[in-house]
Amino acid sequence: MSEAKANAAKEALRFIEDGVVLGIGSGTTVEIFLELLGEKIRNEGLNVYGIPTSYQSHIAAIKSGVRVVDLFQYPEPDVCVDGADQIDYNFNCLKGGGAALMREKIVISASKKVIIIADETKYSSKLDKAIPIEVLPFAYACVVNRLYKIAKKVELRIAEKKLGPVITDNGNFIVDCLMEIDDVENLERDLNAIPGVVENGLFPSKLIDFVVLGNENGAKVLQK
Ligand code: A5P
Repeated sequence: MSEAKANAAKEALRFIEDGVVLGIGSGTTVEIFLELLGEKIRNEGLNVYGIPTSYQSHIAAIKSGVRVVDLFQYPEPDVCVDGADQIDYNFNCLKGGGAALMREKIVISASKKVIIIADETKYSSKLDKAIPIEVLPFAYACVVNRLYKIAKKVELRIAEKKLGPVITDNGNFIVDCLMEIDDVENLERDLNAIPGVVENGLFPSKLIDFVVLGNENGAKVLQK
């Protein structure tokens, strides 16, 4: 599996040029990408300016020699490279397995070009996993009441190696919500319209330009 992720990550390096302002997603595939990018930076003497979307990718970016900057300085990154939990054939994505969806959505939406890297098992005819929803703790019970009316299963994400719920990098809860996903754009909008919902893990295809799918032998780049 990690060979497949590494092959996708390697292929995405071709989008990185000297001086690029890079949106940096989160997750294990992005972490591999940053390791490989670090080698490229060292070998070719590149300057890469990066805007990370989580503490995880912030730390990994610094290790790789990326010059970490922010959206104040660069509100429109040139390229964003991010992973996904599921990708449908139209490029709609489900994200948020690592609870970084909110900053990922902001950086992806702001970037000129968006590249999703993943192992090919994530590619599927339909999005059918639970949707991670970031919720303001103050509104938790009210949001969950609303979600129960439309979902098959609603689950507060519980932390490992810490008691209680996962707390996102923004200080919020994550609720994983299993429901029918038909019209991605409308569902994304309807979920975000619930007061107390901060963001959700549906990333409509209009946000995505390229999908790089890796397997044990290599990777292929899909473009809309
Ligand atoms: C982080 O919240 C997620 O959106 C990740 O981008 C997604 O879970 C992919 O992660 P992996 O690369 O670890 O599978």
